[in-house]
Amino acid sequence: MPAAWAALLTLCHLMSGDLVGGFNLDVTHTLIKDGDKGSFFGFSVALHKQLRPEPINWLLVGAPQSSALPNQFSNKTGGLYGCPLTAEAKECERIDIDDGVDRNRESKENQWLGVTVKSQGPGGKIVTCAHLYESRQRVKQPSETRDVIGRCYVLSEDLTENDDLDGGEWKFCEGRPQGHEMFGFCQQGMSAGFTSDNHYIMFGAPGTYNWKGELRVELFNQTVLELGTYDDGPYEVAGENSLKPELIPLPSHSYLGFSMDSGWGVTGRNKLSFVSGAPRANHTGAVVILRRDGGSQLVPELTLWGETLASSFGYSVVMADLNNDR
Ligand SMILES: *[C@@H]1O[C@H](CO)[C@@H](O)[C@H](O)[C@H]1NC(C)=O
Ligand SMILES: *[C@@H]1O[C@H](CO)[C@@H](O)[C@H](O)[C@H]1NC(C)=O
Ligand SMILES: *[C@@H]1O[C@H](CO)[C@@H](O)[C@H](O)[C@H]1NC(C)=O
Repeated sequence: MPAAWAALLTLCHLMSGDLVGGFNLDVTHTLIKDGDKGSFFGFSVALHKQLRPEPINWLLVGAPQSSALPNQFSNKTGGLYGCPLTAEAKECERIDIDDGVDRNRESKENQWLGVTVKSQGPGGKIVTCAHLYESRQRVKQPSETRDVIGRCYVLSEDLTENDDLDGGEWKFCEGRPQGHEMFGFCQQGMSAGFTSDNHYIMFGAPGTYNWKGELRVELFNQTVLELGTYDDGPYEVAGENSLKPELIPLPSHSYLGFSMDSGWGVTGRNKLSFVSGAPRANHTGAVVILRRDGGSQLVPELTLWGETLASSFGYSVVMADLNNDR
């Protein structure tokens, strides 16, 4: 499928007037992995290092238009693939998650599993999402409801579901007030990830609150969660308890949560910040930087606006410390 392509990149960082360095990417010893035609194989990618039970280096690949598994009773559901880092192009295997469906309460048709994938790092967890996963109520009755809430899966380092954190129960909009003004169209998982200290898991849900968009950050530490008593989130911009969309500093149809990352030392020394893109905000796009408060809120600290009409400023974001001044 993919024509062999390669990018030659020369990076030069000019910092405080000094030329720091540059390098070329190796274009002669590339690894190419193929997926099924039309499956959008490669829509998302992540490198992942498994340490146990044996060390394996993985390339994880999302294919959000993959055919459904037989027990999903759908046409296309999307899927996540694991490829060993070998020269063999056809060696990727579909990771065994999300099989089965309860047609009385959900639909996986066109759910886009694999729209995002992130690894926590060596020996850590993996998160992958299906932002168009649909929960249904009163199926085949006149009052049937369909809510495109989205959902995410967490996997252990060996790509299996092993402990309490693992599995597909990461769907925070389920059971909340419905309708597109509230949580009926959350699209959770358009972005997702872990903070670099691995203390939190984070989700973007750009369809929440009439597409203002919402972010959710949750404690992600088995040891602390087992203690049962902790006072650390979950955090949302509109408040996990207050659910006040007016706390989100953007108009409707902004798509906050389309992209998301976190980093340290951005707005203060040793302070954890979250950053998220809202590519439709005010028709130019915007990026919002937020912090945790002492309760259940992510508090906006700074909004950076795009400058050009329809430029989708904030379509993707990443935080990086270029001069190690954290
Ligand atoms: C699968 O596709 C067929 C043909 O387009 C359609 O009739 C059917 O409803 C689809 N299945 C689901 C679960 O949507
Ligand atoms: C999880 O919490 C325990 C107990 O507070 C702490 O020792 C450990 O470092 C934490 N792990 C991470 C990844 O934050
Ligand atoms: C939003 O767009 C309008 C019209 O283009 C412009 O006048 C206004 O300054 C923008 N607001 C912000 C915060 O950029």
